[in-house]
Amino acid sequence: MLKHHFPAVFTAICLLAVVVSCENNTYASGGRLYKSTCANCHMETGEGLAGLIPPLAGADYLAKNRDKLACIIRYGLEDTITVNGRVFTEKMDGMPGLSDIQITNLLNYINNSWGNANPAFSYEEVTEILSKCKSQ
Ligand code: HEC
Repeated sequence: MLKHHFPAVFTAICLLAVVVSCENNTYASGGRLYKSTCANCHMETGEGLAGLIPPLAGADYLAKNRDKLACIIRYGLEDTITVNGRVFTEKMDGMPGLSDIQITNLLNYINNSWGNANPAFSYEEVTEILSKCKSQ
């Protein structure tokens, strides 16, 4: 009996594995990308650097500015911002080489690491946001 059903069961398990790994993929890929492109400034632990680089870990800015985050990654930020009550003024350069998917993955990583628990981003949401900040 089991032998007979083996191909079907095997296929089902494979499909399940693909679905599960897709779910985790956005976070895992975001993590790898974070370490190679963001961690040199924001640190691996997301704590930032004293008065120069704002933190991402526990940052109120992430939840308050959900609609701006994708644009900050692509186009950078040169502003005076307040993160967790502290003021930051240094400039962050944009990363025009990152695709919409990569930005989605990064957002899912930084919003759900180091104790952060902000809602996930879908690719559709990020593409929509990015299409609006293009013209600015
Ligand atoms: C060269 C240093 C540097 C790199 C690399 C860098 N940032 Fe930043 N980031 C900054 C600075 C400085 C600011 C504050 C900008 C301002 O005050 O206008 C900032 C601000 C931010 C903010 C908004 C403030 C906050 O703390 O929530 C986010 C989100 C952010 N960066 C995410 C990223 C991500 C994701 C990456 C990697 C793709 C990245 N940054 C790479 C320096 C950097």
